[in-house]
Amino acid sequence: MEIDVFTLFPEWFGWLGEQRHVANARAGGSTLDCVNFRDSTTLSGGQVDDMPFGGGAGMVLRVDVVEAALRARYRLDPVALRERRRVIALAPGGRLLDDAFVDELAAEPALTLLCGRYEGFDERIVEHFCSDVVSIGRYVLAGGELAAMVLCDAVLRKLPGALGDERSAVEESFSAALDGNPEYPHYTRPAEHRGWRVPDVLLSGHHARIEQWRRERSRERGERQRAERRSGASPAE
Ligand code: ADE
Repeated sequence: MEIDVFTLFPEWFGWLGEQRHVANARAGGSTLDCVNFRDSTTLSGGQVDDMPFGGGAGMVLRVDVVEAALRARYRLDPVALRERRRVIALAPGGRLLDDAFVDELAAEPALTLLCGRYEGFDERIVEHFCSDVVSIGRYVLAGGELAAMVLCDAVLRKLPGALGDERSAVEESFSAALDGNPEYPHYTRPAEHRGWRVPDVLLSGHHARIEQWRRERSRERGERQRAERRSGASPAE
């Protein structure tokens, strides 16, 4: 998997690159590269954004600046680029990222992520250069960088060899193995702390009963989450 992130803050992604699963994915041949929009702008003073037509607060990332950055990287008209690889703008109004969407993206050979700042993108960037707009939740961040990091983290950990133990990614929250439900609770030593005991079944060594207990807890968590969503406690869908 080849991931290119276009941003005004490439240095922020240094931390992400050092994380174990990202380093493992890279060792397995994946790449995570950052491109600074400012490096290819032809505007004076490294300008990349401008005031919104029609007025209003904030600044908008310019379409000509984004085009120049994409052309410099891929030597291709960005209108044609999205036919060759997923080009994703990170924005709060996009398609919500969930486990199934992460699986879909993890199956791609290459992703290009565009991080907006300020008021976001000139809409022509989204309309003509992007294949997708992705949101990590219904709240507004100061920019797309953290959202891009969330997406990279979630996608890269799905790649073969990224996690130390391949089973970790199979039976985890929202996976098909758990019927899309959150993961069951985990416990470790000590078996008792301040009188809080680990459920007896987990100490029983009885694998079938442990499996059944875990499925039930996972299903309960899923039902609770759906009820919270319906009651408006978490309007995520
Ligand atoms: N940029 C600002 N807020 C965002 C969000 N919630 N998801 C993705 N990108 C964003």
